[in-house]
Amino acid sequence: MAFRSFFVVCVLVASSACNATNNSAWNGHITPGSTTPSTFTPYYVPPGAKSYDSSSPLIHYSGKWTDSFSAAYVQKSLRWTSHTNASVSFTFTGTGIEWFGNSGRSHGISDVYVDGHFVQSVDAWSAVRNKQQRTFWKFNLPYGKHTLKIIHTGKRQGSNRNGILDVDAFVVTKGVAPQEAGSSQPAAQPDLLHSQSLSTSAPDPSVGQSKWTLVQKGTTGVHAMQLAIVSSTHAIIVDKVEHNPLTISGHPAWAALYDLNTHAVTPLAMQSNSFCAGGTFLGNGTLINVGGNPVVDGYTSSADFGDLDGLQAVRLFEPCDSDSVDGCVMYENHARIRMASPRWYNTVLRISDGSAMIIGGSKKGGWINNATVNNPTIEYFPPKSIHGSNGLPIDLQFLVDTLASNLFPIAFSLPDGTVFMAANRDAIIYNWQTNTERKLPQIPNGVRVTYPMTGTALLLPLSPDNNYMPEVLLCGGSTIDDTKPGYEISSQDPASAQCSRMVLNDDGIAAGWQVEQMPQARTMPDAVLLPTGQILIVNGAGSGISGYGNVVNQVGASNADNPVLTPVLYNPYAPYDPNEPSGRFSAESLPSSQIPRLYHSVATLTPNGDIMVAGSNPNLDRSEVKYGTEYRVEWFGPPYMTMERPTLTGDVPKMIGFGESVQINVNLPSTASSNADIKVALMDLGYVTHAIHANSRLVYLVASLSTSDRKTLTITGPPDGNVYPPGPGWIYTVIDGVPSKGVKVMVGDGKGPVVDNTALENLLAQTAVDQHEASKNDGNEDGSE
Ligand SMILES: *[C@@H]1O[C@H](CO)[C@@H](O)[C@H](O)[C@H]1NC(C)=O
Ligand SMILES: *[C@@H]1O[C@H](CO)[C@@H](O)[C@H](O)[C@H]1NC(C)=O
Ligand SMILES: *[C@@H]1O[C@H](CO)[C@@H](O)[C@H](O)[C@H]1NC(C)=O
Ligand SMILES: *[C@@H]1O[C@H](CO)[C@@H](O)[C@H](O)[C@H]1NC(C)=O
Repeated sequence: MAFRSFFVVCVLVASSACNATNNSAWNGHITPGSTTPSTFTPYYVPPGAKSYDSSSPLIHYSGKWTDSFSAAYVQKSLRWTSHTNASVSFTFTGTGIEWFGNSGRSHGISDVYVDGHFVQSVDAWSAVRNKQQRTFWKFNLPYGKHTLKIIHTGKRQGSNRNGILDVDAFVVTKGVAPQEAGSSQPAAQPDLLHSQSLSTSAPDPSVGQSKWTLVQKGTTGVHAMQLAIVSSTHAIIVDKVEHNPLTISGHPAWAALYDLNTHAVTPLAMQSNSFCAGGTFLGNGTLINVGGNPVVDGYTSSADFGDLDGLQAVRLFEPCDSDSVDGCVMYENHARIRMASPRWYNTVLRISDGSAMIIGGSKKGGWINNATVNNPTIEYFPPKSIHGSNGLPIDLQFLVDTLASNLFPIAFSLPDGTVFMAANRDAIIYNWQTNTERKLPQIPNGVRVTYPMTGTALLLPLSPDNNYMPEVLLCGGSTIDDTKPGYEISSQDPASAQCSRMVLNDDGIAAGWQVEQMPQARTMPDAVLLPTGQILIVNGAGSGISGYGNVVNQVGASNADNPVLTPVLYNPYAPYDPNEPSGRFSAESLPSSQIPRLYHSVATLTPNGDIMVAGSNPNLDRSEVKYGTEYRVEWFGPPYMTMERPTLTGDVPKMIGFGESVQINVNLPSTASSNADIKVALMDLGYVTHAIHANSRLVYLVASLSTSDRKTLTITGPPDGNVYPPGPGWIYTVIDGVPSKGVKVMVGDGKGPVVDNTALENLLAQTAVDQHEASKNDGNEDGSE
C-alpha cells in the first residue's frame, strides 16, 4: 500500500493509453461531459499525507508572482502569476503529489514536469470559478525524493491575453519507505508505473507447463468495497462516500463501472451512502444494492458530497449489457423503493422465487453489533405478504441468539428452497415458506465466522450426479471473545485457520462438521469458485479482526495485521482424512502478491475465467497511512488461462428455462480425447463484499456431446428455482478440467419476482422514509467502522 496508481495510466504513459480510457473520468479533474457547476472543494489531506501551503519556504518560485489572501484559500493565502515562463518548483519525499488551486475563466495552461520529465499540460480554465480545486495529481511514484515543476505557458483558452497560474497548496503522499513497509513487504521497490507481472515464472503455453500467474493491472478509481460482474465487459464497484480520486458532478464518486478489457473506469452516480450495503441480482436480471450508512458528517467533510441516508436504500441497477455502459444508471427513489427498516451490514440473498431476502444488519452504523442496534429481522424485495407480515420485517430469533459478532450473516439458498445461515458460532436452516428455523450443530472449536470476526463461506458445487446434495464450507474467522471491548482486542490476536464443512441433509447434519485447516490462518478471506469446482481462497489477514480504529495495536487504522499475501487452492473433491486436515489444499505454490488486502477487499471470478482482486481500506476515509486506501487491481490467472481452451461458437441462447434442453456449439481443444471429461458449469458470479459470497453458485448441468459431430452440446437447464434461483448466470464448458470463457444466460423465464402491491403499499404506509436521519438526536453519528 505504499505505492499508489490512481491515474498514472493516462497521465504518464503515451496518449494511446489515454484513448483506451476515453470513457473514463480518469483525469481526476472533472467528469468529461459534465457541465454541472460545483461548489465542492476537493482539497483533502488524507491521514499520512502532508499539506504545504503556497507560502511554504520549501516551495521555490521563479519569475513574477503575487500573493492573494482570502478565507477561502488553504491557510488563507494563494500565490499566482500571469507571466509566461514563470515557474514553481517543489522537492518532496514520498510517493505522490497533488496540486490544489483555483480554476476559472481567466486561468490558463501550464506544463507540469516530474523529476525533469514532462508529464502533462494542465488547463485550469473553467466556466465556473472554483477554489481549492485539484489542478493536477500524480501518485504511484517510487518512494523517494521527487521534484515537481510547473511552468506557465501564458496561454489561455479563448483569449489572446495571458492566463493565470496559481498555487494554493501541495499535498504530498508520503507513502511508506520500503524498510518501514513491514516484514511482508519486499525490500525492492517495484516500478508500478507500468502494469507489472508478479508471476514467479512466466507461463509459456508452448511448453505445456502452465502455471498460475499474477498481474497487477488497472486501478478502480473508487475504492472497491463491493464488487459484481454485470456483463461480459464490466464489473460494478461500489464504495462508501469518501475522497476517492474518481469524480462525478464535481465531487468524488463512490461507485464505478470497471471495463474488464480496457481497465477504464466510468464513475457511476449514487444518491445515498452505500457503506456497507449488500447486493444481489433479481430473477429478472436487475441488480439491487441494499442498505448502507447515514450521511457522515463531523469527522470528514464528505457530507459536502450531497449524499443521502442509505440505511433503508434499495438501489436498482437495471441490466446493463452495452459495452460502452452508456445509459447504465443506479436508480434510487426512497419515497417508493426502500426497506421497511434501516440496515447496515445486511446480507442480501436471491432465493428460489427470484426475489431477494434481506437478512439482519444493524439499525445504524457502528462496529460490533449489540442488542440496542441489532435488526434481528428479515425482509424481502419486492416485499411479500407472508406470515402476517404484510411487507414488514419478520423476526428471526437466530439473529438475537447470535449476538454480538453476527453482522453480514452467511447465507445460501439451498436446493430444496430453504436457506442456510451461519452467524457467529452458530448455523441454522431457515425455511422461509414456513418461517421456521432448524438448528444445526455449532461450528467446532469456538470459531466465529461473521463480522467483525470475519470468515468466508461457499456453497460447494451442486451436481445432478448426487442429486444436488448441498454442502457448505466455512473458512477462517476468529476465536476472539466477542463480548470483549475493543481495548482488550489486539490487531495481533491470531486469526483462525479452520475450515468447517457439512453436508446439509439429515445424514450429513447427524455426522456434523468436518474440520480442516488452511495452510495459513486468515480473517477476512475471500473464497472464489472456479468453473472446475476448485476454490481459490485469497486476501485477508493472519491476525486481528475486521474494522478500523477499534482495537489496540492498530496498524495505521487497521484492526488487523499480518496480511496473507499468497492464495491457496482448495479441492472439494479430494477425500477427507481427519489425520491430514490440510489434505484438500493444494501443495502447489501460487504466486504471492505484494499488496495487502485487508478489511474491505474483494475477489470475483470473471467471464474470462481469471480472478479479479481489488480493494482494502481499513480507514475512515481515503488514507495514506500504512494499510491505506488501495486502488490497484490484481488478476490471478489459473493455469488453464494459458492452455488451449474450449470455445463456445455460434449463438448461445440468451435464456434457458428450468428443465429446458438447448443446443450449443463447442469447439473442443485439439488435445481432447474421444472420452474427454465434459462438464457444463452454470455459475452465479455473485455479489461480493465483506467476505460474503452469498449468491456465488455453481450448478453443473446435465450435458451430452453429440457423438457424430463432437460439436453439438445438448444442455439442460437446472430442474427448478430451488437448485438455481431464477436470474442471470454464466455458462462455462469445462473439457478435461479446462474451462471455456463464460457466456451470460438468463435462467428461468426472466420475468422476475412477483410484485405484491398490497405488501408494498402497506410497507410505504406503515414505515417512514430515512428513519435514521429523522431520529438523529444524539449528535454523535460517525457511523464508521
Ligand atoms: C473520447 O470522448 C470524446 C467525448 O465524449 C469524443 O468526442 C472522442 O471522440 C472520444 N475519443 C475516442 C478516441 O474515442
Ligand atoms: C519562454 O521560454 C522559452 C524557452 O526558453 C523561450 O523560447 C521564450 O522566448 C520565453 N518566453 C518569454 C515570454 O519569456
Ligand atoms: C425487476 O424487478 C424489479 C422489482 O419488481 C423491478 O424494480 C425492476 O425494474 C425489474 N427489472 C426489469 C429489467 O424488469
Ligand atoms: C451498541 O452499538 C452502537 C453502535 O456501535 C453503540 O453506539 C452503542 O454504544 C452500543 N451500545 C452498547 C450498550 O454497547
